[in-house]
Amino acid sequence: PLVSVIGAGNVGRSLAHRIALKNLADVVLLDIVEGLPQGVALDLMEAQSIESHDCQIIGTNDYADTSGSNIVVITAGLARKPGMTRDDLMNVNAKIVVEAAQKAFIYSPDAIFIVITNPLDVMTYLVWQTIKLPPARVMGMAGVLDSSRLQTFIAMELGVLAADVHAMVLGGHGDLMLPLPRYCTVSGVPITELMEEATINRIVERTRNGGAEIVKLLQTGGAYYAPASSACLMIEAILRNQSRLLPTAAYLEGEYGLEDIFLGVPCRLGCRGVESILEVNLTESEKKALQISAHSVRQNVQVALS
Ligand code: NAI
Repeated sequence: PLVSVIGAGNVGRSLAHRIALKNLADVVLLDIVEGLPQGVALDLMEAQSIESHDCQIIGTNDYADTSGSNIVVITAGLARKPGMTRDDLMNVNAKIVVEAAQKAFIYSPDAIFIVITNPLDVMTYLVWQTIKLPPARVMGMAGVLDSSRLQTFIAMELGVLAADVHAMVLGGHGDLMLPLPRYCTVSGVPITELMEEATINRIVERTRNGGAEIVKLLQTGGAYYAPASSACLMIEAILRNQSRLLPTAAYLEGEYGLEDIFLGVPCRLGCRGVESILEVNLTESEKKALQISAHSVRQNVQVALS
């Protein structure tokens, strides 16, 4: 299979690396900067013999080279600097993702599109509007990352293996995201049995600010290793038709009482993209929080479209 990654910056190149190490697919890495994707691809290819994978990684500035992709991942655009919110990136990144989607779609009309560029839920909507694919074939990556952050913080707190922690974060990829501690478990044991409420609240807050915490530490941009791992998990679920239940920004058509919006919800991912959306029971206050998150995404979509 072939995965094209648009944007050869921190997230794009880390994702290409992950895909190759897992021997999942050939990768075309595309960027607007001449020489950059070619250099990154060559560097990655020069580890091929050591890592013993047989993925071909090509760098290019020409969309024709992305032709026939099974999956197109859009990471092109600006990342946050300290003090910025994801929404501050909107106007610049809107133009970039729309252009990337249009050009990639010409050469890969059958591909599944995964959007990573922020503000995530808004950019995913724009990509879908631009290429008008069935909604199952357009999705955004954020929930896997936000859930993974929550899992990590729970594991750190309890001193357990992060892989034994399962967690679900729904809603938009922003300060209004909806971590669901009621549904978090450690090897099946609800964390509400293992932690004080105050500790859970602290961890939930840290998860909401997980991106900003890293932006502040790095000073030069945002996180990229965990985002790349998260996107790679979604790509693997699709290419291997695994039917994995992963929180994904998906197009809602009445689920959770919401429609005509991309928002993070639990989705079954397989070879057709979003195979189905699972509606979990939410308390009244969780429903309200999801509505508030959706309202904010919707407002930003209006701004981006105007
Ligand atoms: P980066 O600045 O390292 O890389 C962005 C790349 O996009 C650059 O190489 C740039 O040359 C390229 N680019 C800009 N305009 C382009 C165009 N028109 N066509 C092709 N390439 C173009 O940024 P980084 O860290 O890789 O982040 C990329 C995006 O992903 C940002 O918007 C960031 O906020 C977002 N992000 C989203 C996450 C999520 O959970 N959804 C997690 C991490 C980052």
